[in-house]
Amino acid sequence: MRHLLSIEKLAKEDIEGLLADTSNMKAARGRHSRLPLQGQFWAMLFAKASTRTRVSFEVGVRELGGQALFLPASEIQLGRGEPIRDTARVLARFVQGAIFRTYAQSDVEEFARFAQIPTVNALTDDEHPCQILADIFSFQEKRGPIQGKVITFVGDGACNVVNSWIFAAAKLGFELRIAAPKAFQPGADLLGRAGGRVVCTEDVRAAAEGADALYTDVWVSMGKEAESAERLRQMQGYQINAPLVGLATPGALVMHCLPAYRGKEIDEETFEVNAQTIFDQAENRLHAQKAILNWLVS
Ligand code: CP
Ligand code: NVA
Repeated sequence: MRHLLSIEKLAKEDIEGLLADTSNMKAARGRHSRLPLQGQFWAMLFAKASTRTRVSFEVGVRELGGQALFLPASEIQLGRGEPIRDTARVLARFVQGAIFRTYAQSDVEEFARFAQIPTVNALTDDEHPCQILADIFSFQEKRGPIQGKVITFVGDGACNVVNSWIFAAAKLGFELRIAAPKAFQPGADLLGRAGGRVVCTEDVRAAAEGADALYTDVWVSMGKEAESAERLRQMQGYQINAPLVGLATPGALVMHCLPAYRGKEIDEETFEVNAQTIFDQAENRLHAQKAILNWLVS
């Protein structure tokens, strides 16, 4: 039984296989010779908002022959306190796979353990593995192998997206630099678990120098809204803008997982200049997730 619960638990070979299959899925869109989800139903359990992940999974499941059931957590009994493990065992009697976006990583893991159907982490507080697979694919599509390259993350260095990048760095052999205020840098435990070349600094300019890609995410992740004012105060200066891009390698990619907040983690002009890359990145969510779905049922 395969699950896609984190980058941390994914083997290097599996990541490489998924990236290769993302390319196949992209090339074959609209004319797949095999429909691996034919006759299947997939539950999409979402406890947080989503545009990209929701739509790309709904479309992806259908394009591979299956049907997706969108289940907002607030509208099923889970939202009224039915335990994860009971929800998992019930859904497993009806559907062949599950895609789960929620807060605690342990909830997705518990769901997978009790449901015993292929389960995907569609974002938790700890990881966003589907995003990072699509991002690495997007980087390689434009710049070739990521191995040996320098990726600089700017902003909230302690969020789910960064965590997944950290685990990917050691597995794929690239240097990850994280420029963030001290209070928003990754924990020592996580860095120790991941290994690899990860440089954490408060010096955003030093982190940008010679980078092959500058990457950012929102300053206020879902679930952290109560900390908004403090986060905005501390993260001032950790913005991707033209002067920062000027320090990176000429032609460096500017990437954003979206949604973007102009004037905060990225300025309007830099966002629009790099819109082609950023929306290619968003599109690649679909292709990467189709590769994931296919891998899960193979
Ligand atoms: N990047 C991303 O996961 O976007 P959504 O929250 O819209 O799914
Ligand atoms: N770190 C962000 C990612 C959004 C796709 C969040 O968790 O809200």
